[in-house]
Amino acid sequence: MRKKIIIGNWKMNNDKQETENFLLKLKNKTWNKEIEVKVSPSFVSLENAQKILRNSPVEVVAQNMHYEKNGAFTGEISCKMLKSINVNSVIIGHSERRTLFYENEDIIKRKIKTALNNEMKVIFCFGESLEDRNKKKHIKTITKQLDVIMSDLKTNQRNQIILAYEPIWAIGTGLNATPEQAQQIHKHVREEIATAFNKNLANSVQILYGGSLKPNNSEEIFSKPDIDGGLIGGASLSFDDFYSIIRSIDKK
Ligand code: 13P
Repeated sequence: MRKKIIIGNWKMNNDKQETENFLLKLKNKTWNKEIEVKVSPSFVSLENAQKILRNSPVEVVAQNMHYEKNGAFTGEISCKMLKSINVNSVIIGHSERRTLFYENEDIIKRKIKTALNNEMKVIFCFGESLEDRNKKKHIKTITKQLDVIMSDLKTNQRNQIILAYEPIWAIGTGLNATPEQAQQIHKHVREEIATAFNKNLANSVQILYGGSLKPNNSEEIFSKPDIDGGLIGGASLSFDDFYSIIRSIDKK
């Protein structure tokens, strides 16, 4: 059975105090042990978040990292730096990184390799634009994006990837994919993985949905068989909404 996962991606929100207030509340809450809860605060709050969550099952995840080991890369953060404060998971391929920060497939691929070669878990995001969907090119786009993780990796590294389907048109827009639309893509992705590798990997890989997930739509979206959880932006900034979403996956 795949473990369910809820991740709050705070993006460029929540300063030190806001992070602290949120995490102290989260630390006092309980949920089914089978649900993995993770939060992804800004870089400046990662270490403090780790300290606050020291004896808690909540994992702290980085929103980004550079693919080089070290060097003259002003403003960047290395894998070694993250690992030195016990951050062992990183989000890679988010559409905001792809579009606003011009991260192409080559950069994404390098980041994934660096992370996996250093025993970090990767939350790999992919998803089509509205134009792709309107032109019925969404399956093709997604298949191409998945190529990045289909090739070149060592077999045991593939188990270190969590997938997150985030249709660009649903991110921050209030327009979520319907449970059926999301299920169709998640199922397709499992089929692609089964064909490219094997059924075991296809059945064990966790695939999250992200894009305007809210307490009022999460239960229905999570009820679909191939949806293993959520990557939540806006709603993860409200403690009550985030906790409601955690509770809603418990009903799956
Ligand atoms: P929203 O939940 O705000 O749509 O953002 C989704 C997202 O980008 C999570 O990574």
